[in-house]
Amino acid sequence: MPKSTYLGLCASTLILGLIAASPVMAKSSDTYVLDKGHVHLEISAVRDDIVRIRMSEHKKARDESFAVSSEVRKAHLTLHVSTDHKLISLATSSLIVKLDPKTLAIRITDMQGQVLLADASGQAVRFDGQGFHMRKVMPQNAHYFGLGDKTGPLDRRDQAFSLWNTDNFGFGDYTDPLYKSIPFILGLDNTGKSFGLFMDNTWRSYFDFGKSERDTLNIGAEGGDIDYYVMTGKGPKDIISAYGYLTGHAPLTPEWALGFQQSHWSYMTQGEVKSIADTLRKDHIPADVLYMDIDYQDHNKPFSVNTQAFPDLKALVSDLKAQDLHLVLITDLHIAHAPNQQYKPYDSGEASDIFVKNPDGSDFVGKVWPGDAVFPDFSRKVARQWWGQQYKDFAKLGVGGFWNDMDEPSVFEVATKTMPLDVVHTIEDDGFTTRKASHAEMHNVYGMLNSRATYEGALVNTPNTRPFVLTRASYAGGQKYAATWTGDNSSTYAHLKLATYMLVNLGLSGFSYVGDDIGGFAGNQPSADLLTRWIEIGAFNPIFRDHYQKDKPAQEVWVNGPDHEAIRRRYIEERYRLMPYIYALAEENSRNGLPLMRPVFLSYPEVVAKGDHLGGTDDQFMLGDNLLIAPSSAPESPQAYDISLPSKGWYDYWTSQRLDEAAIKETPRLDHLPVFVRPGAILAKQPLVQSTMQTPSGPLEIHVYLGPDCQGHLYFDDGVSFDYKKGAYLRQNISCQSNAALDKVSLDFGPREGQYHAWWSQIRLIIHGYRGQSAHITQDGHALTGQWDVTNQTLSLDLADLAHQSHLEIKS
Ligand code: GLC
Repeated sequence: MPKSTYLGLCASTLILGLIAASPVMAKSSDTYVLDKGHVHLEISAVRDDIVRIRMSEHKKARDESFAVSSEVRKAHLTLHVSTDHKLISLATSSLIVKLDPKTLAIRITDMQGQVLLADASGQAVRFDGQGFHMRKVMPQNAHYFGLGDKTGPLDRRDQAFSLWNTDNFGFGDYTDPLYKSIPFILGLDNTGKSFGLFMDNTWRSYFDFGKSERDTLNIGAEGGDIDYYVMTGKGPKDIISAYGYLTGHAPLTPEWALGFQQSHWSYMTQGEVKSIADTLRKDHIPADVLYMDIDYQDHNKPFSVNTQAFPDLKALVSDLKAQDLHLVLITDLHIAHAPNQQYKPYDSGEASDIFVKNPDGSDFVGKVWPGDAVFPDFSRKVARQWWGQQYKDFAKLGVGGFWNDMDEPSVFEVATKTMPLDVVHTIEDDGFTTRKASHAEMHNVYGMLNSRATYEGALVNTPNTRPFVLTRASYAGGQKYAATWTGDNSSTYAHLKLATYMLVNLGLSGFSYVGDDIGGFAGNQPSADLLTRWIEIGAFNPIFRDHYQKDKPAQEVWVNGPDHEAIRRRYIEERYRLMPYIYALAEENSRNGLPLMRPVFLSYPEVVAKGDHLGGTDDQFMLGDNLLIAPSSAPESPQAYDISLPSKGWYDYWTSQRLDEAAIKETPRLDHLPVFVRPGAILAKQPLVQSTMQTPSGPLEIHVYLGPDCQGHLYFDDGVSFDYKKGAYLRQNISCQSNAALDKVSLDFGPREGQYHAWWSQIRLIIHGYRGQSAHITQDGHALTGQWDVTNQTLSLDLADLAHQSHLEIKS
């Protein structure tokens, strides 16, 4: 720490003081308060590694948030206050905030004094009556990520974005704004230093990463106070988990939502839905979910059913269930404005007076799919509860999940594509004083509150079933309620590429259950090759849903003939084999917030330090820390391309071959998506099933890829209920050690935790990379025999299930 004068403040005592030529200050040990001119500033630390900075033009800024719970906001750590060369220094044990009391300029450093984030010189903060603008320094070696699924390159540097949830059908490669507003960014420089910045503001806002002003990050909003958090840590993973601490983790998904999902706007009849299910099963294409889009409804009226086209929804749900498929129904928020038409959602909503209002107190009416529609005021408790009840009948039928679309909210036939800014909402929420708020303030959280009402309703209607909600619009923290997708993309190679950047950035922004419309939603029919490549990559994305627009030629897996179908099937099958690994990642995410799909630098920040900011190209991504997926950055080109792995010794996932080099030249082949495994990975795989609802038959496969830091774990539960919270799960750590020659291996199975009963009685252990001439194997001192596959350099052995601690040794 720099040499400083410690002012010795006592806890919870508010001390007023003056320092030379400084404005009046009030200081306490857990919140630093300063008033200068018309600006009121408060600095606190909600955790050692997270500081919160609030500035407003009113003395009493409201302490409210839709993203950070009041419990988290209330936690204030002691700040050690000192002065250092006329700067006020506020320190936790992880970071120091340096404040110039004259200018209110702020610089945040780590304990070594290295700057994490600093205000730009000149005027760093400006209020303009309604909103504000801030300017921060962007070091030239820094890269910026986050903001959810924005278009453009993976790295936000030199781009500028608006945050205003917008329905943007058929968006282009650079269209902005889009459906979500997630004002969180991760900064990372090539010395490995990283920070996070979350600006908790729901108004229309912007982030300009040096586009309009060189090397300067400009951030502003049209309204509200300045309220932002800065996070630090050892590396980007710490930043992401600090952000998860602030805004919450996604609850563990039902496992079936990780299976293959088929959707279309729209399967028009019950028979058509059934025939899609039949073809999936006849063609042995593993799948878990079918979707029904707006046309199952009566004149697009939410919560109604067109009984001519869908005469027996109950029978359909149970037919699908018999085929191990879940049905997800679209349930848009715009309730048809249909007075005196026996349309219950309108009548009951109107009776409870839960729709958003025009300034004169009448219901706001706007056109969407059903024509004139009214809009529930999801920021009111009573409206959220009312919304949840609308699902009761569907829940009784056993419908698996719900899809909230158009919740930006989208309004047709108006230039703004949404409600007027003066539409009135009422906020009743945790930590809020109940008050009215304009649509200008509520717009960006409306979709999140819609999905929250759906999620909470599902918990009431089916308490021991994990809800699955898919939303298009959301705000920071929306991951607590719903999975999301990237909206109405197009069937182009550019959008296949873009999908990776969008999904990776969503993952870095708290949303881990993310997908795009496989094959592209809008535009022309995807070519057979494009759809095949999209399915290959989609097999390694968290949400894997083929969905396409009305009146477009069919886009299901089988549409381009048997050769394409065979390739696509193989990738979908591989995802199902990998399901134990993918599901374990989901469970981990529910505890630590780390995304399933990651940029390479999240697992290997040291590649950034080497000056290559992503290790290879932006198109490469990871599924967990163990699989690196490396599509070409020119996916339509036959030209060979370079893949650069984080180190030597990685394995080719498909051939098992151990790679001596980190740099690889790949010649594209339609049937091949390069996937690599981290040396030291231990992956669990299962025999092929056609749905996650089926119990695999055969041994659980445990694949050990010899290398440093060799470890993995098993996680299983019933995949659908909350019983895992009461102990009905299975967790087991596995580790291994090998010598440099890779001809001597020891493996340790830890004790098994939890009361979930394994579906397997046998384990097939497959060791990749073993280089011994022979293999003498012992398990807890007893000799075993294995099979040595010379071509693949794998050693396999079948064992009785290892429910207890066990030690294996293999040597030549
Ligand atoms: C929106 C959605 C799309 C859906 C369509 C009809 O465009 O983004 O996925 O199919 O509406 O509901």
